[in-house]
Amino acid sequence: MNEKTCRLAVLLSGAGSTMVNLQEHMKRGEVPARIEVVVSSRRGVKGLERAEGLGIPTRVLTRKGFRKEGGFDIEAYSAALADLLEEYSPDLVVMAGFMTRLAEPLLSRYPVMNVHPALLPMFGGEGCYGHHVHEAVLEAGVKVSGATVHFADNEYDQGPIIMQEAVEVREDDTADTLAARVQETERRIYPKAVAAFARGLIRVDGRRAILSQAEEE
Ligand code: GAR
Repeated sequence: MNEKTCRLAVLLSGAGSTMVNLQEHMKRGEVPARIEVVVSSRRGVKGLERAEGLGIPTRVLTRKGFRKEGGFDIEAYSAALADLLEEYSPDLVVMAGFMTRLAEPLLSRYPVMNVHPALLPMFGGEGCYGHHVHEAVLEAGVKVSGATVHFADNEYDQGPIIMQEAVEVREDDTADTLAARVQETERRIYPKAVAAFARGLIRVDGRRAILSQAEEE
């Protein structure tokens, strides 16, 4: 079958292992997509270095300079990011450890996907990212955590859920050991969700993202 290659813009703020994992799946032909640009909200992060090493164009758009009364001007930042992305005509914007919420006008210009290291809608929201998530999971004493891929909207960790997979929480888990197992799961389901999008297999109906049979297996 002749597949069109889906153009991706990847947003990151840190180490970039999520981006590298996506790139590896693409290289193996498992995801019919190409990363056109990596945009970081922080200078000097490992993710930028890794993207450069992979020959992917990189840009930096820090939050500095987007201030309004009361703090960060998310609308102005999202407008500047949407303009920056225009040059690369992405079909999909992929958040890969991007530590900023997005807003209009970006959200109505591009579909945006995110991965979160827990089973949303639990253990999400502002300040709940990375190791904070796993610490909260352990403290709550739940027996199951996991990973969630969802479309992003203008709230932290909300938007239609595309894929989820559970991970057992073990008695002797630390935030690090749990994070490692959840990350393995993220690395499996995020490329699958991006591939499903690239193949046109995801339909959104209100709060629900519906995957066509072909991708469900
Ligand atoms: C990912 O593991 C992802 O679960 C988490 O950030 C990590 C980024 O790692 N995202 C969130 O917590 C989003 N709320 P990376 O910088 O090495 O790709």
